[in-house]
Amino acid sequence: MIETTVRQQYDRLASVYDRRWKKYISNTLSFLKAWAKISPEDTVLDVACGTGEFERLLLTDYPTLKIVGVDISEEMLAIAEEKCSVYPQASFQTASASALPFANDTFDVIVSASSFHYFGEPLAALIEMQRVLKPNGKVVILDWCKDYLFCQILDIILKIFDPAHQQCYTQNEFHHFLTSANFVVSRATKVRLGIFWGVMVATGGKAGGAK
Ligand SMILES: C[S@@+](CC[C@H](N)C(=O)[O-])C[C@H]1O[C@@H](n2cnc3c(N)ncnc32)[C@H](O)[C@@H]1O
Repeated sequence: MIETTVRQQYDRLASVYDRRWKKYISNTLSFLKAWAKISPEDTVLDVACGTGEFERLLLTDYPTLKIVGVDISEEMLAIAEEKCSVYPQASFQTASASALPFANDTFDVIVSASSFHYFGEPLAALIEMQRVLKPNGKVVILDWCKDYLFCQILDIILKIFDPAHQQCYTQNEFHHFLTSANFVVSRATKVRLGIFWGVMVATGGKAGGAK
């Protein structure tokens, strides 16, 4: 199963992840933070939170923000927990994006960064996010964008050499997933961050209750 392969890969990578991807993480997460416009009163879920860098960024500005990070890699989560240990209301749990251990209508904002292309069941993951999002909440997802040549080439290479890699999507395909999961896309863009990486980001609300 793909999740086992991804988990093993990130368990192995965890101790070097922040250092190896420093520039990429900083570019993507500072962009996401500015885009998402999270308020200090929001209750936030970060799906596939990795080493908790997004939590660290947000908590530096809003030290009392209620935020939960979930990931399938316990080693990545251990680093996140240590990094955010001074914030007692920030918590981390082992969970798959397609089986979120939360009640319906729990979160104001759900974010996910650089992880959608790993999800073995992308639609199931979005349906789970839809379920745990409050009626007037918003989902904000950033990922690699296959509309960029670099990501097209990378997608081909990773499909051959990286057993954890699933699939990069074009912006159209990504929006199709969002609407299939009953989200209304209210804001979206694609942008090159750094020399190579082309990413897309979309904000969506529940159909009938978009923020
Ligand atoms: C490239 S890292 C991104 C981490 C973090 N969001 C960031 O931007 O630094 C991808 C993360 O997705 C997690 N992941 C992949 N598939 C997942 C799934 N189905 N459910 C939960 N987490 C998953 C991996 O364990 C890994 O920590």
